[in-house]
Amino acid sequence: MDVFITVYCVIFGIIWTVRGDSLESLVHSAVFKDYNTCIRPVQNSSLPVTVEISLVLQSMYDVEEKHQTLYSSVGIELTWVDEFVSWNSTHFNNVDTIIVPLKSIWRPDICIENDLSDNKCLSAESVVQVSSEGQINWRLTKELRTGCEIDITKYPFDRQTCEIRVGTLYSTDQQIRFRTKQVSTTSYRFKESGEWKLMGENFERVQYTYAQKKFTYVKVKYDLERLASFHVNTMIIPLIILSCLNLACYCIPFDCGEKVSASIEVFLAFAFVLIAINDEIPTTSRHIFTFGLLMSSHLIFSALSVIINTFLSYLYHHNSDMPVSTFFHLLYSTIHEFRMPGKRNKHIEVKETSIYDEPQRLSRRTNRSRESGRHNKRNSTRTTASSIRSSYSVCSHAYNVDWTIFAIELERKAFIVMLILNILSYLIFLIVVFS
Ligand SMILES: *[C@@H]1O[C@H](CO)[C@@H](O)[C@H](O)[C@H]1NC(C)=O
Ligand SMILES: *[C@@H]1O[C@H](CO)[C@@H](O)[C@H](O)[C@H]1NC(C)=O
Repeated sequence: MDVFITVYCVIFGIIWTVRGDSLESLVHSAVFKDYNTCIRPVQNSSLPVTVEISLVLQSMYDVEEKHQTLYSSVGIELTWVDEFVSWNSTHFNNVDTIIVPLKSIWRPDICIENDLSDNKCLSAESVVQVSSEGQINWRLTKELRTGCEIDITKYPFDRQTCEIRVGTLYSTDQQIRFRTKQVSTTSYRFKESGEWKLMGENFERVQYTYAQKKFTYVKVKYDLERLASFHVNTMIIPLIILSCLNLACYCIPFDCGEKVSASIEVFLAFAFVLIAINDEIPTTSRHIFTFGLLMSSHLIFSALSVIINTFLSYLYHHNSDMPVSTFFHLLYSTIHEFRMPGKRNKHIEVKETSIYDEPQRLSRRTNRSRESGRHNKRNSTRTTASSIRSSYSVCSHAYNVDWTIFAIELERKAFIVMLILNILSYLIFLIVVFS
C-alpha cells in the first residue's frame, strides 16, 4: 500500500512540476523564440539603450599603501529595458517575472576600468531577472582590487579618496547611455573596516573621447579617513619614547662608561623602526612622506648623538698634560669667543669660578684626580690655566685647558641643542599634518 502511495506521489509530483514549469517554459519559448543575444534591444537602432547603474560598497577589506590598492566588495545592480522581451502576463497565468541565464540575453559590455584583477569585465556566468514589461535586472557582487592613488603626506592622520570606475568596453554613448542610481552605502549592509572610516561617496559621470567617439564612464568616489589610534600607539609613541631615550643619553655620567654604547643602542632602535615603517609605505616620490622625514631626522639626531657622545667622552678622559691637536684648542677658543663678544677676559673669570664653586663636581673631579694620582699636578695646572687663559689670544695654543670641565660644559650645550631640534621636528610634523 505504502509503495502505491509513494508511486502515486512521485507521479503526481512529476506531473505537477511539469505543469508548473510549463507556464514559464511557455513564456520562455514565446519570448525568446527569435531572440538574438547580439542585437541591441532597441526598436530604433539610432537610439541608445539606457542602463541604470548602482554601485554599493559592501565591505572594505583593506587599503594597501604599499601597492596603492583598495580591496573591497561591491554590490552592482544594472537595470535596462529590453524592447524585444515582453509578454502579457494575463495570458500566462500572471507569470510576470522569469529568471534566465545571462548568456541567453543581450547584456551591456561593462567593465570595472581600474580593477587590477584579470576579469575586469562583469562575467556572463550569472542569471538575470526579466519582467513582463521587458525590464532586465542584473545583480551581482564582485570582489574588487582597484588602484587607488595614496597620498601619504599626512600619514597617519590622512584622508584618501579611492575611486571605482565603471565603463563600457566598446559601446559608445550612441549605443549605451549610463544613468546612475545613488544608493547610500551606509544605509545598506556595509561592513566597516578596522582601519578606515567611510566619510562619504559620490557618483560622477565622466565623458571622454577615444578615436573620435564619445564614451562615458561612471566614477564612484569614496572618501576614507584613517583611524589613527593604532598608528599612534605603534609608531608615534615609540618614536617619542626613543627620542626621550636619545636625550637621556646626554644625562649619563661620563664615568659610568655606558654613554656611547647607550646612544648606539638608541640609534639601532631608530633604524629598526624606520625599516619596519618602510615595509608599509608606497615607494613613490610624488608625495612627501612627512612621517618618514620625521623618522629620518630622528635617525640623524641619534647618529649625531653617538658622534657627540663619543667625542665628549674622548674630551672628558683626555689627559690635560698631553698635547692635543689644534682642532680642540680652536673649538675651545671658538666656543668661548662665541660666548663673550668684546669682554672676553672678564667672562672667563666668572665662568671659571662658577664651575669651580659647584662643590659636587669639584669633589668628584678631585676624587678622580686623586685616584689617578695627579691631584697636585691638576691643581697647579688649574691655577696656571686660569692665569694663562685670562691673557690668551685666539691664535695662541700655548695654554692648558681643563678638558673635563669643558666636556661637561659642551655636553650641556649639546643636550639643549638636541632638545630644541627634537621639539622643532615634532612641531613641524604637527603643523604639516594638521594644516
Ligand atoms: C529613430 O530615432 C531618431 C532619433 O530620435 C528619429 O529621428 C528617427 O525618426 C527614429 N526612427 C524611427 C524609424 O522611428
Ligand atoms: C493583456 O491581455 C488582456 C486580455 O487579452 C488585455 O485585456 C490586456 O489589455 C493586455 N495587456 C497588455 C498590457 O497588453
